[in-house]
Amino acid sequence: TQHTPIPSPPGVPGLGNIDAIDSDLPIKSLHELAQKYGAIYELNVMGNKMIVINSRDLLNEVSDETRFYKKIAANSNQLRNAAGDGLFTARAPEEKNWGIAHRLLMPIFTPGSVCNIADDMLDIVSQLVLKWERFGAKAVIDTAEDFSRVTLDTICLTAMGYRLNSFYREDLHPLAVAMADFLLVSTKRGSRPPAVQATLVVENAKYEADQKTMFAMAEEIMNERRANPTDRQDVLGLMMYGKDKETGLSLPDKTVQYNLLTFLIAGHETTSGMLVFAVYYLLKNPDTMRKLRDEIDSVMGSRPFTTADMNCMPYLIAVMRETLRLAPTAPARTVAPFEDTVIGGKYFVAKDASITVDTFDCQRDREVWGPDAEEFKPERMLDGKFEALPSNAWQAFGFGMRACIGGAFAWQEAQIALVTIFQHFDLVMNDPTYVLQMKQTLSIKPKDFFIRAIPRKTSP
Ligand code: HEM
Repeated sequence: TQHTPIPSPPGVPGLGNIDAIDSDLPIKSLHELAQKYGAIYELNVMGNKMIVINSRDLLNEVSDETRFYKKIAANSNQLRNAAGDGLFTARAPEEKNWGIAHRLLMPIFTPGSVCNIADDMLDIVSQLVLKWERFGAKAVIDTAEDFSRVTLDTICLTAMGYRLNSFYREDLHPLAVAMADFLLVSTKRGSRPPAVQATLVVENAKYEADQKTMFAMAEEIMNERRANPTDRQDVLGLMMYGKDKETGLSLPDKTVQYNLLTFLIAGHETTSGMLVFAVYYLLKNPDTMRKLRDEIDSVMGSRPFTTADMNCMPYLIAVMRETLRLAPTAPARTVAPFEDTVIGGKYFVAKDASITVDTFDCQRDREVWGPDAEEFKPERMLDGKFEALPSNAWQAFGFGMRACIGGAFAWQEAQIALVTIFQHFDLVMNDPTYVLQMKQTLSIKPKDFFIRAIPRKTSP
């Protein structure tokens, strides 16, 4: 049969599209290529082929788990240096520890179970509120830094019973710095030729040192639990002491460490990025901000958030969905077909070939969202419109068996944080002319986005 060739930018002989991807901000390159080539294109970097898809239709097609599996491609391979066969980077089903960890942990990540940790989440957010109140209206806030403090302390406390106390120190916790640097370098390494990588001696030494810092932390957390036995059924406890019902097996200590680092990474970067984007979009769209504040004031007044308030503010939920549509903080994922196949009715894809799902662009598909797809409009997520979307039009948490395990956790944490913040402060951009720029590590977040938090005069 005749297949249509997948569009591809012209390349340099022998090197292919080596300069097509900006290693500092890959998602920007992908976005520009998507605008140029449309729903699908192929890059060829020194013989490595990479198919990228950008439409809802193709995303829907590759979200068929009988035909496609999650592939651990270049970036994730680098992450395996710290995350090994942990949930995010495991090659499942071959690596059996994925199934064991998945079955042990799934029950505590349902919406019904994450309710139990709402108070701990509120505890950490209250530390941010206290800090902003004490620093006052003139203090310039590094939005991404303070939200990282919230999400990292939250995952550590709720999943591991361990307090990092990031709000009680001037600088970021050494673990936060090591992780951020590790992620940044991992992303770069993923798109660099090994021969070039080998010459970066200083970077490589720092990369090793960051991994040491991370593993030392994971060990300390495990040792502390051994020294202080408890029957807490949290991520740490279930992984250290739980037995998988299906196989009767427990996780080896090394895999527990990989998973602790996985949760520290996956459980904080994406959620903090989401909070920064949400604040950015709200401040750029004052009408939306006003509507959200009215909703929070009328539903909540000034009383603290409780689990009974979860999912009770439809406009807030719409703001969160729209934020993750335009800014899916895990902006891409990779799949591959089990067998030679054809996608889009005409494009041949060989068995095991990498298909990058560019979620950032799939969720801007004009066929789904219309000509104003680039605009921030929470209204398009309201009144049953979200539920009526074609399947997989919105896929910020991934898909199927390898979808995000922390979706309900993140959803709850974001609600608690946003509600509590807007109950206490009027936020303003420190520089009202700020134009969105992004920074990419494993996830994306706004770059150099500073705000000020003005305590509200009229308590609701
Ligand atoms: C997987 C997004 C928060 C833990 C994923 C995937 C996406 C995603 C898209 C699938 C990746 C792939 O297919 O390769 C997000 C977003 C979040 C968020 C947008 C916040 C807004 C969290 C939180 C946790 C978490 C809070 C932990 C508490 C994980 C884990 C996996 C994962 C462990 C791997 C699951 C597996 O393959 O078994 N996430 N995530 N994530 N996420 Fe999240």
